Amino acid sequence: PERGRFGPLVGSIDEGTSSTRFLVFAAKTAEVLTYHQVSIPHITPKEGWVEQDPEVILHSVIETINVTCDNLIKLDISPEDIVATGITNQRETTVVWDSVTGKPLHNALVWLDMRTASTVDQILQNGKRNKNFLKNVCGLPVSTYFSALKIRWLIDNVEGVRRAISEDRCLFGTIDTWLIWNLTGGVNGGLHLTDVTNASRTMLMNIDTLKWDPQLCKIFDIPMSILPEIKSSSEIYGYISESVLKGIPISGVSDQQAALVGQMCFHQGQAKSTYGTGCFLLYNTGTAIVQSSHGLLTTVAYQLGKDAPPIYALEGSIAIAGVAMQWLRDNLGVIKNVTESMDIAQSTGEVGEVYFVPAFSGLYAPYWRKDARSVICGLTEETKPGHIVRGALESVAFQVRDILEAMALDCGYPLQKLLVDGGMTANNFLMQIQADYCGIPVVRPLMSETTSLGAAMAAGNAKGVEVWDLDNVQPVPSDCFIPSITEDQRDIRYSRWKMAIARSLDWVE
Ligand code: G3P
Repeated sequence: PERGRFGPLVGSIDEGTSSTRFLVFAAKTAEVLTYHQVSIPHITPKEGWVEQDPEVILHSVIETINVTCDNLIKLDISPEDIVATGITNQRETTVVWDSVTGKPLHNALVWLDMRTASTVDQILQNGKRNKNFLKNVCGLPVSTYFSALKIRWLIDNVEGVRRAISEDRCLFGTIDTWLIWNLTGGVNGGLHLTDVTNASRTMLMNIDTLKWDPQLCKIFDIPMSILPEIKSSSEIYGYISESVLKGIPISGVSDQQAALVGQMCFHQGQAKSTYGTGCFLLYNTGTAIVQSSHGLLTTVAYQLGKDAPPIYALEGSIAIAGVAMQWLRDNLGVIKNVTESMDIAQSTGEVGEVYFVPAFSGLYAPYWRKDARSVICGLTEETKPGHIVRGALESVAFQVRDILEAMALDCGYPLQKLLVDGGMTANNFLMQIQADYCGIPVVRPLMSETTSLGAAMAAGNAKGVEVWDLDNVQPVPSDCFIPSITEDQRDIRYSRWKMAIARSLDWVE
């Protein structure tokens, strides 16, 4: 293939909860030239447990890189034009492995996994401590969601992990760390690194100093020797040691936060919501560390270069968005594929008043209740599968409204418009009810892969790569959904949603 047809290219390894992709962007136009995607199976040994095989994840990354590069050649574009790659990854998912053999010591515990409910109780000393007792230090409530609880569980329950720690050969990482270590050489000198945004999801990093916090590590009783070095979100971490991308730097890492970069939310007060497996709404608070009093997380949004100031965000995390669609497909069999959900939900006509709270992992923001249970309310003899499908889509829109309410309380004023991205935003029905139930315009970029784009931008912008100038990028073209129901209609629907939430929270085991 001819070299340089599209100028420098930047790759983006997108290792999400449900699938892995490798996308290639043209740095000049931010256009996706090609990509390849493979699904990653969930392993569910017990109710509430969600694991993945770290080696399957690694192989999926290599496979997607290889196939995408083949695609490039078929398009007469040279893979040699790829000058750097970013990584965007499911965040809190926890891997521990043996530094000598390179083998995982256990399956990865996926962020959705609920097995650490009793670890949470143990850390909270059975209710003697408030779930927010560490929030000032790390920005997060004690929850099954975060990596520290998962590492604690692995140490408590897996002999091999304890042995590897005592022999000083245990390494911990979120998925970015696992991939960087393997791609930069593995047992032959792989680099043990993470970026500041992933580190901010472990509960072990001090949100102010951006370093591992000895006090936090002590509370969770986690040896600091297993933790990776924390880097900024945009710098050369190392070079790929094998594969068709041999010698290419990995130079940008982040996940949900990367979509802030991809959506060009570089200013304080801008916010975006990414709809994937879960749904994650982030609000840029600039250099200020804003502590939420209404159930939001404080997290690092990005740090674009090791000397750049860290930018912070308030985050509302919703565990179940796309997962609810998968559940309707795989467990109930009421849709054949996720795209069908739009037509089925629309076909119900006027609202059937079914409210569905999918609390499969308890409820995250703003409730943080691991004991919440899923409920479907308002069933009648007339209820059809379409009403449940509609209820599931509406649950995503209502949960986003829950987050916006909390953000308005924390920030003092409501958001004027919501930027959205991610796979589920292809669903026009969801986008319209999102605008309807929040009462603000919903702006959707025509290119929905803004998370991958953000990771590619961070990689292309890194010192030493410098093919992507973030000061001069144009926002991607978008379309917009305008609220189409009255204030009264909106309030009635939302108050009924809150009644369904109350029932979910009232569940007694
Ligand atoms: O915090 C979990 C989140 O990072 C999951 O991301 O892309 O799999 O929906 P994704």
